[in-house]
Amino acid sequence: MLNFNRTRTQPRSTRSMSLGGIDYMDPKKKSNVVGKILLAASFTALFILMLKQSPTFNSPSLFSQHEPGVTHVLVTGGAGYIGSHAALRLLKDSHRVTIVDNLSRGNIGAVKVLQELFPEPGRLQFIYADLGDPKAVKKIFSENAFDAVMHFAAVAYVGESTVDPLKYYHNITSNTLIVLEAMAAHGVSTLIYSSTCATYGEPKQMPITEETPQHPINPYGKAKKMAEDIILDFHKNSDMAVMILRYFNVIGSDPEGRLGEAPRPELRVHGRISGACFDAARGIIPGLKVTGTDYKTLDGTCIRDYIDVTDLVDAHVKALEKAKPGKVGIYNVGTGRGRSVNEFVEACKAATRVNIKVDFLPRRPGDYAEVFSDPAKILTELNWTAQHTDLQKSLEVAWRWQKSHRNGYETTLPMASY
Ligand SMILES: NC(=O)c1ccc[n+]([C@@H]2O[C@H](COP(=O)([O-])OP(=O)(O)OC[C@H]3O[C@@H](n4cnc5c(N)ncnc54)[C@H](O)[C@@H]3O)[C@@H](O)[C@H]2O)c1
Ligand SMILES: *[C@@H]1O[C@H](CO)[C@@H](O)[C@H](O)[C@H]1NC(C)=O
Ligand SMILES: *[C@@H]1O[C@H](CO)[C@@H](O)[C@H](O)[C@H]1NC(C)=O
Ligand SMILES: *[C@@H]1O[C@H](CO)[C@@H](O)[C@H](O)[C@H]1NC(C)=O
Repeated sequence: MLNFNRTRTQPRSTRSMSLGGIDYMDPKKKSNVVGKILLAASFTALFILMLKQSPTFNSPSLFSQHEPGVTHVLVTGGAGYIGSHAALRLLKDSHRVTIVDNLSRGNIGAVKVLQELFPEPGRLQFIYADLGDPKAVKKIFSENAFDAVMHFAAVAYVGESTVDPLKYYHNITSNTLIVLEAMAAHGVSTLIYSSTCATYGEPKQMPITEETPQHPINPYGKAKKMAEDIILDFHKNSDMAVMILRYFNVIGSDPEGRLGEAPRPELRVHGRISGACFDAARGIIPGLKVTGTDYKTLDGTCIRDYIDVTDLVDAHVKALEKAKPGKVGIYNVGTGRGRSVNEFVEACKAATRVNIKVDFLPRRPGDYAEVFSDPAKILTELNWTAQHTDLQKSLEVAWRWQKSHRNGYETTLPMASY
């Protein structure tokens, strides 16, 4: 078990054992009075210290009861890229946050940053657990009073999903079912679900609206579509408030430089374009490979819709505010504007001020020419629209964090040192 100041990392029952351990002394045993007093004093000091370190000082735990005016949000995958940014925003908005993550892909460093920003009792707790373990999930729900769930935890690389599909059906579809069952059993009434434009597959018409038929073409998109279907079927006979957000390509990081995107080095091979671009700028990889220059697009390279994580998180907050019992909302979250890979590469060169080497290669199978969203519905219904639409600016923000965190969250160099 990992342990942090003021962080509840263990279930209540096991945690209280450590405090109870002070009772072990045998009262019948004779010993000198001074020694006894000293011992008692040191135990008292230790006890007070432990209480001060523990949010459960306010017993019962603030996390275990509903509090009027405070929304307690369970953020699954909150140690990950998007989940950590969402947790930061929720905390800033005075919500109570519980992060559940098994750190298979996320970073404990991100959780530490959040802990340091919000150390007060009852603000943030981190629970190390695997959502694939129904017993652990049930326990978490029975010991905590959640008002809403933002379910980010997943594995999320298209390429990897074609190589290891079961991992995707397990960690996306099956785990969503487990979370949903626990929510139903404990009457947690609001779910914000992280879905993806990959559920649409290769639509014939652009832009993609929420009505565009979903025909996913890889296990990642299929697993997410199945999870959506499970949620929607369940919803038909329930009062749950459900919001399904289908993100397009997520980029950027916290404008104040507190959080960033730091995938495990072994995941680099599956890399997304922004990560690859920064790796190339840092010389970790020799350059960028642009696959396909003969698509029927303006400059021949593929077109995608890049959404800044700050805007994406804002969409979650708006979805949470507008979620209504018995209602379901499905929204595309994108800018509505397509950018070519060439444009992206140029923006990345400008943001990093590195003349990244670019190789142009033939098309890669499975890539489609053009994908971008029609974000009209989310504007009409949630009053959300992308604000951070300058690609270069978003990449500059992310690059600043990347430069000062060469090893991700493991070492932090002062921001000014470059
Ligand atoms: N990044 C994108 O461009 C993008 C686009 C569309 C949708 N999404 C979706 O957004 C969500 C978050 O993606 P991300 O980019 O932040 O990924 P990420 O890998 O950074 O974060 C996912 C987190 O979930 C955790 N996790 C995975 N399996 C778990 C399990 N069984 N138990 C507990 N924790 C587990 C990981 O440790 C990690 O911290 C995912 O659902 C993803 O499908 C992402
Ligand atoms: C995370 O969860 C998966 C199941 O989804 C499990 O197989 C894996 O071992 C866990 N990883 C860690 C580091 O606990
Ligand atoms: C996902 O599920 C598989 C089992 O199918 C497991 O081995 C793996 O560790 C899980 N978690 C991740 C992050 O891959
Ligand atoms: C919509 O959001 C804008 C800010 O983004 C705000 O100024 C405006 O008042 C909002 N409109 C409604 C109807 O809530």
